[in-house]
Amino acid sequence: MNTRLLAILLAFAGAAATTRAQETIKIGEFASMTGEHAGFGQQSHKGTQLAIDEINAAGGVLGRKLELIMEDDQSQAGQAATVVQKLIAQNKVVALLGEVASSKSLEGAPIAQRNKIPMISPASTNAKVTETGDYIFRVCFIDPFQGTVMAKFALSRGWKKIALLTDVKQDYSVGLADSFVKYFTAHGGTIVRDQKYSSGDKEFRAQLTSIKGANPDAVFVPGYYGEVPLIGKQAKLLGLKVPMLGGDGWVDDSLLKVAGDALDGSFISAHFSMEDKNPVVQDFVRKFRARFQGDPNDMAALGYDSAMILAAAIKRAGTTDGAKLRDAIAATKNHPGVTGSITIDAQRNASKPAVIMAIAKGAMKFQETVAP
Ligand code: PHE
Repeated sequence: MNTRLLAILLAFAGAAATTRAQETIKIGEFASMTGEHAGFGQQSHKGTQLAIDEINAAGGVLGRKLELIMEDDQSQAGQAATVVQKLIAQNKVVALLGEVASSKSLEGAPIAQRNKIPMISPASTNAKVTETGDYIFRVCFIDPFQGTVMAKFALSRGWKKIALLTDVKQDYSVGLADSFVKYFTAHGGTIVRDQKYSSGDKEFRAQLTSIKGANPDAVFVPGYYGEVPLIGKQAKLLGLKVPMLGGDGWVDDSLLKVAGDALDGSFISAHFSMEDKNPVVQDFVRKFRARFQGDPNDMAALGYDSAMILAAAIKRAGTTDGAKLRDAIAATKNHPGVTGSITIDAQRNASKPAVIMAIAKGAMKFQETVAP
């Protein structure tokens, strides 16, 4: 080979290496930035972005910067599938972060699985999400745990007669109600009424009147933050004064803004409390406030943890190859997350504590931590 040709070849090789170093690692995120559950998407996206920026400021991963490509699924049925398809086929993302709402994760997961692109849901607690396949993970606890926590809590207060009010449009709500009932009825509790509504409903008086007639000790409402404050206010107007119990779906700033003091006396299970003295939590709260001029909630904390766990897995895998990255995520152990220590179990779920929050005087207060 003559020297001129060799020089040209070397120049090419050098250029290719630089391009590789400059090429970003593309990560897809799907979230409800607008529409009915915008509160979920906006918070989880902020937490996710904060983590990605922090990783990049520290030099990125494998010598490359992470690029977060976020798609809004508009809180609309069918959109999560469309945007996940796009992120994989067009943007060529190496992994996916999302969604918050279980029904949306259940739309995206089969597509990620089919394409062998690892997906980590920050916040979807419905059991079926990770059952989709071996590329689907989550960094939150699951509803069979959350439902049990709330059933035990009700029993510990001596509440043996519970009425249910479930959102039949949400896999989350239906699954959480099932888990609650299973534990509650197996340990001496009775479901005295089983009422239903659909996401977007504004009128709950018929269901609440029926519930009042059953004279329950408390009402379990495993719904989302949009409907719950209306349910609380209408219950109060009807003179239904018993405590309401809920899950993480109640978490959003707007809940108590709309409800006022109508949900006083209620309790929910959740993932995170800003009152936690753990320095990892306090450090995160400080960074989040400085960046966004507002407080982080559960979704922000989980979004942050999901991105950090993904970045750590890419680093350990030493590659963005789907199968190897999958194995690295599966091997996550004792990750010091904002939402607790995270170990991914054999079912690709995170086993970790829940917090119980109490609502009093129109405000949410930390009550206790419940270990798995
Ligand atoms: N766990 C809920 C679901 O699976 C989503 C959620 C997570 C809501 C955290 C609020 C806080 O649909």
